[in-house]
Amino acid sequence: MTPSKDEKKHQLFLGLFIHSVKLGELKYFHNTAVFVDRSGNIVAIEPQCDLKKAEEVVFPKLGWKGGDVVVTAAEEGQFFFPGFIDTHVHAPQYPNVGIFGKSTLLDWLNTYTFPMEASLSSLPKAHRVYTRCIRRTLAHGTTTAAYYATIHVPSTNLLADLCLSMGQRAFIGRICMDNLGPDYYVDESADQSLKLTQESIEHIKAIDPSYALISPILTPRFAPACSVDAMTRLGALHRETGLPVQTHISENVNEVQLVRDMFPDCEHYAGVYDTYGLLTKKTILAHAIHLSNDEADLIACRGAKIAHCPCSNSALTSGEAYVRWLLNKRIALGLGTDMSGGYSPSILEAARQAALVSNHRAMPAGKWADLPAEERERAKLSVEEVLHLATRGGAEVVGLGDKIGGFEVGMQWDAQLIGLGVVDETVDEEDVGDHGNVDVFGWEKWDERVAKWLFNGDDRNVKKVWVRGRLVHERVR
Ligand code: GUN
Ligand code: FE
Repeated sequence: MTPSKDEKKHQLFLGLFIHSVKLGELKYFHNTAVFVDRSGNIVAIEPQCDLKKAEEVVFPKLGWKGGDVVVTAAEEGQFFFPGFIDTHVHAPQYPNVGIFGKSTLLDWLNTYTFPMEASLSSLPKAHRVYTRCIRRTLAHGTTTAAYYATIHVPSTNLLADLCLSMGQRAFIGRICMDNLGPDYYVDESADQSLKLTQESIEHIKAIDPSYALISPILTPRFAPACSVDAMTRLGALHRETGLPVQTHISENVNEVQLVRDMFPDCEHYAGVYDTYGLLTKKTILAHAIHLSNDEADLIACRGAKIAHCPCSNSALTSGEAYVRWLLNKRIALGLGTDMSGGYSPSILEAARQAALVSNHRAMPAGKWADLPAEERERAKLSVEEVLHLATRGGAEVVGLGDKIGGFEVGMQWDAQLIGLGVVDETVDEEDVGDHGNVDVFGWEKWDERVAKWLFNGDDRNVKKVWVRGRLVHERVR
């Protein structure tokens, strides 16, 4: 979307705003006005405020003039919601979404993933794939993404350029893998891993010096893929630069065994990252399904974060992460699509799958049947909880909890305008509407509308999307 002159203006948003205030609690601000300055910061929130009151009472306080302000009002049936945060996603795997057959992690990597990633050494192909991936995720309301790219610097840098120009907030990681991988797709050495990582950091520094929108992220693919030398040096780089780290942990039982065999001196998988200085409060660990209690305690103690990827965990038959248990340990947790381990670009889909997978824990005849009934029942995640994970939870995971994920003065305007299908009284027999699967009849309470959106919503409900105040997606119909 080309920048318009309106992007230099202040903005006023009017209508219903819904956000999470804490795990399990959504707050509804009806008839509210949110004031966003030219830099995309929320500078005022006024309850019970229409355009007239905004112009007469609030604009003078802010020193704004009517002509300098772009107004967006939610219509009947629409609401503003914080943009979604995808805490774990592989942009180069986007063409493979839905293609995984009956594979599990290690054969999936060899069969589908490494060949696709290797082919993105071609810049024209990377351009095509990355442009579509960013466009598609924006259309689903993802305003921030923690991306894994590939081992190639030019196409990794291209992903950063495209996120910047298309306006998606992003963490961009050039993948390090010098220890495991097919001959055609592996770093030559630890030296090479570090040198190429540094090159892509330098590029991002050049295009976005303050990391206002795009930040580098150190990305050892997962412990088995990295030599001890590479991990040690990435740990040192993490300490020196303060850049965040992302990797995978305890996704698949065979992978966990592989780690045990490869690192016999480490107590467990989390201990491997800890040994090399890669387990800190700036670390995002994807999956975390088969953790021992000691590992989870270590993760909590280090303040590392978890990206829960339920679509991927079910698709690759990896397992069911025990989210309630992790949350009870006060581990920050967000949602990831993990495309293309996960089959969907949508964080709304990840949120609904998080709710459904949590219900598996509560099933009386399931794998956890021996647990006390109350504990099983407590495992269930509510609509409000999974939407918290999709927004505030994700913001904390990527280290931006004070900037995004909610509507508060001082935060940035990363938001989506959601529109549901309103079935009016003169319902047309022919017309199913263009709002997707969510039909609202008018008698539903607002929490019921949100539940209907969670379980049946999709990109057709995402009417507009903004990042730092910039309109980055608008649905034509
Ligand atoms: N473990 C190592 N690499 C990958 C990957 O690309 N996707 C997933 N889901 N797990 C991994
Ligand atoms: Fe992944």
